[in-house]
Amino acid sequence: MNTPATDISTHYLGLPLRSPLVPSASPLTERIESLQEMERCGASAVVLPSLFEEPYDRDALQPAEYLDKIKAAREHLTIPVIASLNASTLKGWAEYAVMIEKAGAHAIELNIYNLSLDPDVPPAFIEDGYVNAVKAVAEAVKIPVAVKLPPYFTSLAYIAKRLKESGAKGLICFNRFYQPDIDLLTLGSTYTLRLSTAAENRFPLRWISLLYQRIQIDLAANTGIRSGEDVLKMVLGGACITQVCSVLMQRGIPWLRKIEQELREAMEESGYSSLSQVRGSFSSQVSGEPGEAERDEYRKALQGYILSRSPDQRVLTTHSQQEPSS
Ligand SMILES: Cc1cc2nc3c(=O)[nH]c(=O)nc-3n(C[C@H](O)[C@H](O)[C@H](O)COP(=O)(O)O)c2cc1C
Repeated sequence: MNTPATDISTHYLGLPLRSPLVPSASPLTERIESLQEMERCGASAVVLPSLFEEPYDRDALQPAEYLDKIKAAREHLTIPVIASLNASTLKGWAEYAVMIEKAGAHAIELNIYNLSLDPDVPPAFIEDGYVNAVKAVAEAVKIPVAVKLPPYFTSLAYIAKRLKESGAKGLICFNRFYQPDIDLLTLGSTYTLRLSTAAENRFPLRWISLLYQRIQIDLAANTGIRSGEDVLKMVLGGACITQVCSVLMQRGIPWLRKIEQELREAMEESGYSSLSQVRGSFSSQVSGEPGEAERDEYRKALQGYILSRSPDQRVLTTHSQQEPSS
């Protein structure tokens, strides 16, 4: 079904975009041919893989090579090119950001990874590290800066506000970290990559809905987004864009077209003609009013769970989700 009347355009970091569908940083966004295919398949912008201040292996992109990739992407694409940086020192954050800006990136995404294991380091110290990195970059460049957040903060609203005050124009909710497993055959660690599933997108949906309009900042949804319905829900929760990775790694880049088609159909079915008109309209429904009501809902949800369906298809559901008895 071709529904040109459906307006899926959006904006993010001051960039007007034809749709909310943006492939996120991964090896898929490394090659210029893949980036071109993404553009042909409807991607509205692309996020390049992260440049690391300390390349972790010989195959990792070196700074000069990375800057060349930005230049090539700018030359061969008409859609915005967002670079991604993972530095480890304030000097590194600022200096690489300047190089990235000079190479022509439209925006920069800060992939801050800070796993603290020292029990003597308080959370405030770690949060200051995020804030200082954002300040260092935002003061060094004119292009918009977004921060890819990990999901683990004591108060996401607090850190989101601090990052905005430090110069961030966007937040990506959330990065997804890869946790090793234990191989019982070899009795060693296994780092096999497990791609995300749709079940994981409730978490970003929830937090986007909670943060929407509490903090005046552009929100990007990431993790577990696989279908047009997922995209629409994220926008209804308050997202400007949705970043996708796992689904493209599994299904291939042309799957973007299918997601866009599904998005248009889902909008039609819901009677929506424009994404910008409905952005955030379900944020309070998904987030609810935190506080006592939140605790109450949580308690009810846990207590209301019952097993339903046949034994081989058992799923948990709440009383309220059950079919009314005839
Ligand atoms: C193989 C692989 C490499 C990735 N490399 C990066 C990276 O360089 N920088 C980054 O910020 N995220 C990176 N990611 C994370 C993705 O951009 C994305 O945030 C994450 O996979 C969650 O989205 P998804 O559920 O659609 O996969 C990588 C993911 C995968 C699977």
